[in-house]
Amino acid sequence: MNKKIYIINGPNLNMLGKREPVYYGNETLDEINNQIKNKAKELGIEVEFFQSNYEGDIISLIHTAEDKGCHGIILNAAAFTHYSIAIHDAITSVDTPVVEVHLSNIHKREEFRHKSVIARACVGQISGFGKNSYILALYALDNIIKGKE
Ligand code: DQA
Repeated sequence: MNKKIYIINGPNLNMLGKREPVYYGNETLDEINNQIKNKAKELGIEVEFFQSNYEGDIISLIHTAEDKGCHGIILNAAAFTHYSIAIHDAITSVDTPVVEVHLSNIHKREEFRHKSVIARACVGQISGFGKNSYILALYALDNIIKGKE
């Protein structure tokens, strides 16, 4: 079976490399995406990358993912994580499994980051492993997809 996964990154993640390296490291989003792509290739997974600073774009992508042949989503909703009920509702509107990821450990940071309003809509949350959060999510989704075959 062909396996396709979307990697969706939310607001300000286009600024990786420059943005608060103490939390997010020195690599750009493109550099991280290339490493995810290589790992995905090893696992026989096709990946497509999206980044948007707009909530509605992310919601529309989640809605249309399944029709575009996508089997799972790795989502770093960035700041939307903490207040977007609309993204929560988009995830519960579809059957596509979504894994929530964060580069930093949101539970170790400011209190307003401790709460994820999307967590209960997702299959799980991986937080605090830098770029490896995405790699771990890739393994998790691969297993979920295999379980459905
Ligand atoms: C983040 C954590 C969020 O709190 C923050 O708003 C981000 C990035 C992370 O990957 O660690 O933009 O999702």
